[in-house]
Amino acid sequence: MFLTFLWSLVIVTAISGEKINTKRFPSDFLFGTATAAYQIEGAWNEDGKGVNIWDTTCHENPSPIANNATADIACDSYHKYKEDIALLKDMGVDVYRFSISWSRILPLGYDNVKNQLGIDYYKNFIRELKRNGIEPLVTIYHWDLPQPLQDIGGWPNELIVERFADYARVCFEEFGDEVKYWLTFNEPKQTCQGGYGGGGKAPLIIAPGIGEYLCTHNVLKSHAKVWHLYDEVFRKTQKGKVGITIDTAWFEPDSKKDEDVAAAERWQQFNFGWYGHAIMLGDYPKEMKSNIAERSLKQGFEKSRLPAFTQQEIEFINNTVDFLGVNFYTSAMVRNKIDTEKKEISWAADAEIYAYQKPEWEGAASSWLKVTPWGLRKLLIWLKNEYGNVPIIITENGYSENGTTLEDDRRINYYQTHLSNLRDAMDDGVNVFGYTAWSFMDNFEWLAGYTERFGLYHVDFSTPNRTRTPKKSVNYYRNVCKTKCIVEKSKCTD
Ligand SMILES: *[C@@H]1O[C@H](CO)[C@@H](O)[C@H](O)[C@H]1NC(C)=O
Ligand SMILES: *[C@@H]1O[C@H](CO)[C@@H](O)[C@H](O)[C@H]1NC(C)=O
Ligand SMILES: *[C@@H]1O[C@H](CO)[C@@H](O)[C@H](O)[C@H]1NC(C)=O
Ligand SMILES: *[C@@H]1O[C@H](CO)[C@@H](O)[C@H](O)[C@H]1NC(C)=O
Repeated sequence: MFLTFLWSLVIVTAISGEKINTKRFPSDFLFGTATAAYQIEGAWNEDGKGVNIWDTTCHENPSPIANNATADIACDSYHKYKEDIALLKDMGVDVYRFSISWSRILPLGYDNVKNQLGIDYYKNFIRELKRNGIEPLVTIYHWDLPQPLQDIGGWPNELIVERFADYARVCFEEFGDEVKYWLTFNEPKQTCQGGYGGGGKAPLIIAPGIGEYLCTHNVLKSHAKVWHLYDEVFRKTQKGKVGITIDTAWFEPDSKKDEDVAAAERWQQFNFGWYGHAIMLGDYPKEMKSNIAERSLKQGFEKSRLPAFTQQEIEFINNTVDFLGVNFYTSAMVRNKIDTEKKEISWAADAEIYAYQKPEWEGAASSWLKVTPWGLRKLLIWLKNEYGNVPIIITENGYSENGTTLEDDRRINYYQTHLSNLRDAMDDGVNVFGYTAWSFMDNFEWLAGYTERFGLYHVDFSTPNRTRTPKKSVNYYRNVCKTKCIVEKSKCTD
C-alpha cells in the first residue's frame, strides 16, 4: 500500500532512491520474457520424450532438490502453451526466449531416433507465437543433457561436440525457417563449473579444477561447430543469427590498489572471459592460462590442468557470434588473495581472489542475489571495451521472492532500476538491442525447487491446473513493453 503510494507520486525515483533514466527505448528495441524447457514444460515422460540429466537428478533418492520437488509437471507448459502465449500477447512482448528440450526431440540424444511428437510440439509452439506477433528467441541447450550422453561422460567427453552439432542441425532443419535468433548455450559456466566442477548443477559431478575445464573446452568447440554449421549451410536461406548466452556478475575492486583492481579484472576473465575471450578474441584469457599453468606445475602436474587449443582450433572458435546474450543478476566486491602455497585445486582457487557481497545490499529469496543495478551498467561498459561493438541482448535479469505475495514491488523496483542502468549504458554507446526478463512465470528453480520464485506470473504448484495469476509486476512490465518506457507515459522523455 505504502509502496504503491510512492510509485504513483515519485515517478522518476525508484524505491531505492536511485535516479531513473526516463528516456524512451528505441522503437525497434526488443522487450520480452524468458524461460527454459526443463523449468516449465513438465510432461517429463510423455509423447516419447527421453530421460535427461535433470530428470535423473530429480528422481534420485534421497533427493538433492529442496522439499524433494521434481519438475515432472512443473508449470505444465507442455499442455498449456496456448494459454501461456495468450498471456504473453496480453503483456505486449516483442520476443519470447525459450529453450528446446534435446531429449524431447531426440529421445536417446543421438540423431538416429527422432520423436515426431516432440518436434511437432515446438513447431506448433513457434507457429502460435508468430500468429500472435511474438518473435521466438530459441536457446538450443539450457542444461538438460540427454541421459545416454551423460552415461558416456557428458560434456567432458569430446564425442559430445559431434552429437551437439547433430542435434543443432535437426533444430535448424525443423524450426529454422521460423527462427531468427538462436542461442547455442545458456550459461555454459553453470553447465561446466556447476555440473562437473563444484557439483551444484546436474549431473552433480564434483571434479574441481579438472572437470569444468574439460567441459568448457568441448562446449567452446561445440558452440563454434554449430555457428559454422549455420553459417555455411543455413544462413543463406534462413537469414537468422546465432549467438550464445554467458552469465556473470559485476566484480567491483574492493580498493583502488593495483592488485585489487587486477584481481577484479582477473575474476571477470575467469567468469565471462573463459567463454567470451575464446569466442570473440581467440583462446582463453591470458590470466587463466598463466595462473592455471603455474598452479598446476606447483601441484605436481606435468602440464596445465587447462587444456590447450591448437592454433587451428583457436581460429575455428574465434569470431563465432552474431550477437551476445548476457545474463546479469548481481555483483560482488573483489580483492587480491595472496596464495603462496597454491595447494587447492579448483577453478575459484585458480583465480586467487577473495570475493564478497556487502551486507547492506538488498537481498532476495535467492541467497546469492543482492540487488546492485549499477553493476549492469558497469558490466555493459566493460563488455564494450573488451569485445568492441558486438550487439548485446540481456537474456536474463530478475528478482526472486518466496511465493507468498502478489504485491511484488521489490521486483518492479529491480526491473526499473536495472533497465534504467541499461538505458544509461546505451547512452554511453553500448550496443544493446533487447531485454528478456527472467522470468515469464514462477518455475522449477533447479536445486532450489519451487522455493525461489522469479516469475512475473505466480504459478500455483499445489493445484493440478497450475493456475497462473499476474503479480503486480505484470502491469508494470506490460507498460514497459507497450510504451518502451520504464516510467509512466506522461513522464517519458523522447
Ligand atoms: C524427502 O524424502 C525423504 C526420503 O523419502 C524423506 O525422508 C524426507 O522427509 C522428505 N523431505 C521433505 C521435505 O518432504
Ligand atoms: C581473433 O580474430 C581477430 C580478428 O577478428 C584477430 O585480430 C585476433 O588476432 C584473433 N585472435 C587470435 C588469438 O588469433
Ligand atoms: C517469505 O518472504 C517474506 C518477505 O521477505 C517473509 O516475511 C516470509 O517470512 C517468507 N516466508 C517463508 C515461508 O519463507
Ligand atoms: C486454471 O487456470 C487458469 C489460469 O491459469 C484459470 O483461468 C482457470 O480459471 C483455472 N481453472 C480452474 C478450474 O481452476
